[in-house]
Amino acid sequence: MSVHVTRRSAIAVVTIDNPPVNAINMAVRTRLLALVDELDADDHIRAVVLTGAGKLFVGGADITEFGRPVEMPALPAVIERIENATKPWIAAVHGAALGGGLEVALGCRLRVATADARFALPEINLGIIPGSGGTQRLPRLIGVETAIRVAAENLTLDGARAAELGLVDRLVPEPLVDKAVEFALEALGRPLPAPVSRRPVAAPEPALWEEAAQRVRRAARGASAPPRALDALRFGVENGFEAGLARERAIFLELRASEEAAALRHLFFAERAAPRPHDLRGIAALPLASAGVIGGGTMGVGIAAALRNAGIPVVLIERDEQSLERGLTALKAIFEAARKKASLSDEEAEARMRGVTGAVGYEALAGCELVIEAVFEDLAVKRDVFANLGRVCRPEAVLATNTSYIDPRQIAEGLPHPDRFIGLHFFSPAQVMRLLEIVPIPQTRPEVLATCFDLARTLGKVPVRSGICDGFIGNRILRRYRAEAEAMLRDGVTPAAIDAAMRGFGYAMGPFEMQDMAGLDISFLHREAARARGEAIPETPGDLLVRAGRKGQKSGAGWYDYAPGSRTPLPSAEAARLIAPLVGAPRELGADAIVSRLIDAMAAEGQAILDEGIAGSPADIDLVEVHGYGFPRKHGGPMFLSRRQPS
Ligand code: COA
Repeated sequence: MSVHVTRRSAIAVVTIDNPPVNAINMAVRTRLLALVDELDADDHIRAVVLTGAGKLFVGGADITEFGRPVEMPALPAVIERIENATKPWIAAVHGAALGGGLEVALGCRLRVATADARFALPEINLGIIPGSGGTQRLPRLIGVETAIRVAAENLTLDGARAAELGLVDRLVPEPLVDKAVEFALEALGRPLPAPVSRRPVAAPEPALWEEAAQRVRRAARGASAPPRALDALRFGVENGFEAGLARERAIFLELRASEEAAALRHLFFAERAAPRPHDLRGIAALPLASAGVIGGGTMGVGIAAALRNAGIPVVLIERDEQSLERGLTALKAIFEAARKKASLSDEEAEARMRGVTGAVGYEALAGCELVIEAVFEDLAVKRDVFANLGRVCRPEAVLATNTSYIDPRQIAEGLPHPDRFIGLHFFSPAQVMRLLEIVPIPQTRPEVLATCFDLARTLGKVPVRSGICDGFIGNRILRRYRAEAEAMLRDGVTPAAIDAAMRGFGYAMGPFEMQDMAGLDISFLHREAARARGEAIPETPGDLLVRAGRKGQKSGAGWYDYAPGSRTPLPSAEAARLIAPLVGAPRELGADAIVSRLIDAMAAEGQAILDEGIAGSPADIDLVEVHGYGFPRKHGGPMFLSRRQPS
């Protein structure tokens, strides 16, 4: 049974027991509704304590139901019935009370919670808004200003803060249910507070709405739900609870049926499935109490920072004192920047560096359980590193290469115990970017693979397993994406039109702006090297630009012109003249057509990657694009999109 009842003298204890997160589905709603009637009719019962089994109260409405029409009874009706029950319901919250869980708690007459409780309305992350009174009851309980932060800006309130704000009537120690029963008996001796929906709400100054609207829109970065949550909240404050509830429900139902919400649900489940692949269940990860990083460049330092942020002690290795000093200084600068932004306290920033040992030479890595190589992308250099690691590291230590293009099988050649070897492809800046491509070689032991998924969980990253091919999943699709953009350019479409279309779709920048930022010269040099080896690589428009000294932002000009000191791309007549010999007659192409061509190309490459067994699922490819390459979340990923809109 998903909801059960026990009796403690005059108090009924109703426990939602629906593992893993006590999500409220149709069965739970039906049972709760029936229980209100049943307990109201029970003369022995005077009040009801509502709690959740296991480690939390309720993780929200059941998201798996959101793809289907609403099944009755709907949650607002259940909450209304709880709120109007003759016997008062008292929420007893531990762990999380999220979304629908918080809305149910708001429908209760009183709330007690343990200090570990967390209250939030994360619906906006799923492209919807609270649909069962969250935007209406919360401001009546904690005030408009904080309610906006919770409903439209993802603020989570812990137990202490919730108690301060009046969301929680009393903080209690464990055992929660015993304390809640005591509280209920005590509360019955006093007049009960009014149901939350009937409490007044103080309308704020008009300026507060305007400020909030601007803030919410800015933070939403194109997502639809956050401004709509604010809209529902404001409407209820200005027009009363009933009107607000109706408005909230209408927006909820509209958004629930939207493509954006479907995309965000797809990512929600993909992100939760990614860290725990089916075939690794039951395989124990190896201990990971210490790690080494080889290379104090941008990537090595970023990886070291990510490890330290997760509390893992790090040994950072460089080839000489000067390079080591540079690496350590860069690492310190990362924590210093976090301290300035107040995301780390002084003490935490210092502790991050205290956990770093810098060393020249490999011997300091002898005790590490994991070593990640992040040196120059050159096979001979990397092989030399692993020859040294094979010598100094313990035979069971996991040895990882952070290559982005080189075949890891070649890097592992000659390594003793290659079954502990694996590719870990981080994305720069590694302390920020959430994607981790995990690339096993044929000899990699399952325990080593499981250890790397475990590491990703510890680092808060989204792990995706990739087979071996040129560029693995992400860079291979990136190459196809760029090639398609170049093909469009050759068809006569301007870089500015292509970039604007992709920005309109939701990317932070288009493919040509991205190349200007990263520099055009690196891929040019690769092509030149291949040409020198005798490969027949035709001249590209990018080659023409680099030969004319236009290497991107770093040289003040690339696909675009840049004013001195500015990063704003300005359409360039000079660039157009230079590439003219390789480009067709100017051609107008609508933004939708541009976006379709590029997304279709990505999806086609993704399909090839799936057919070759390089990626395990379409959802994995979507995670790579969203978390490594800036694909807009609201579209769910190229595979999701191509399957929703078959062309
Ligand atoms: N509905 C349906 N399933 C849910 C769910 C929900 N609201 N919340 C979590 N789940 C599922 C996950 O998909 C996962 O399933 P799996 O084991 O089959 O992969 C499982 O519950 C555990 O979730 P996970 O996030 O891995 O557990 P956790 O202990 O790290 O975190 C929560 C628990 C509740 C904090 C977290 O799952 C969460 O934030 N859930 C979403 C909350 C939300 O958005 N609610 C608003 C909906 S109205």
